[in-house]
Amino acid sequence: MNRTVRIRRFGTPDVLELYEEDVPVLQPGMARVRHTAIGLNYLDIYHREGHYPLPLPTGLGVAGAGVVEAVGDDVNAVTAGDRVAYAGVSPGSYADTRLVSADRLVPVPDGIDEAVAAATLQQGITACFLLKDVFAVLPGQFVLIHAAAGGVGTIAGQWAKKLGARVIGTVGSEAKAAHAHSHGCDEVIVYSRENVADRVRSITGGAGVAVVYDSVGKATLEASLDSLALRGTLVSFGSASGDPPPLDVNALGAKGSLYLTRPRFVHYTRSRENLLRYAEAYFSAIQNGLRVLIGQSFRLEDVADAHRLMESRQTMGSSVIRI
Ligand SMILES: NC(=O)c1ccc[n+]([C@@H]2O[C@H](COP(=O)([O-])OP(=O)(O)OC[C@H]3O[C@@H](n4cnc5c(N)ncnc54)[C@H](OP(=O)(O)O)[C@@H]3O)[C@@H](O)[C@H]2O)c1
Repeated sequence: MNRTVRIRRFGTPDVLELYEEDVPVLQPGMARVRHTAIGLNYLDIYHREGHYPLPLPTGLGVAGAGVVEAVGDDVNAVTAGDRVAYAGVSPGSYADTRLVSADRLVPVPDGIDEAVAAATLQQGITACFLLKDVFAVLPGQFVLIHAAAGGVGTIAGQWAKKLGARVIGTVGSEAKAAHAHSHGCDEVIVYSRENVADRVRSITGGAGVAVVYDSVGKATLEASLDSLALRGTLVSFGSASGDPPPLDVNALGAKGSLYLTRPRFVHYTRSRENLLRYAEAYFSAIQNGLRVLIGQSFRLEDVADAHRLMESRQTMGSSVIRI
């Protein structure tokens, strides 16, 4: 049997229900992956709440890793027995086994733990395209990364530092500040008690930062705009505190001829070539010293506890379900 978590309505973590079902039947172009680990991403909360409405009932979870059990017709990308991971696919990973479009699977290199691949692939690829392609960070530039002790933040802080940036991170607590300091951030602002834009101006000698990577949204939008240097770029890529409020386009001019972009994982990884390029860059960064933290591990039957912890801002680094 195949344990699968589904929701029949949107709502609190209580809507997550565990079912026992038959193993899914193979289809052309698909591979059946037996999970050893399942990634938990903040996106799963938006899906559970109906923030990005999905047709119901639906499975949840967009990332995982394990072994290819079998492949359908017309599959060339992988074969049975391959160690694989995936991220950013249609929800349904909270299960022992699932079907994944074979062209969305990436090989897990020797030496990379499947739990690390499952927990962090979505976050690592995101950090990669944010820092290299959405706004290509240059050595010496000041960058501001919100939620710097989270899954994406832990990876992006170190990666930005490695690219030579001067990294300022924001976090919600003192414990998270210590974590962010030891994972790439030169300066850390505890935004629950400090004024972000004032601190950024003071750290940068009044100039502001070249780019803000903002995944917090509603609570930070204004501070992000006010932290930018002339012609700086706001990369708004998430809504952990709620959607950013509507923005007056003229405000971008008034605040310094600013740029604004709202990138999405699906668009940056649409071609298999890009997906593989980002995944390889991420795994290679780990092999070259980038430290990932799986701060929280859960059993599949306890996934509601995982959601409660994530949305109450008590997690650090990445979270995983181990099968
Ligand atoms: N656009 C894309 O393609 C893309 C891809 C991947 C991820 N993302 C986004 O990146 C963000 C980070 O994802 P993640 O999986 O790594 O999650 P995460 O950063 O580990 O968790 C979210 C963090 O946001 C912060 N936060 C601030 N205000 C919050 C609030 N009101 N409620 C809850 N959390 C709040 C918390 O850190 P503090 O306690 O330090 O404030 C919390 O730990 C998410 O917004 C996600 O949607 C976007």
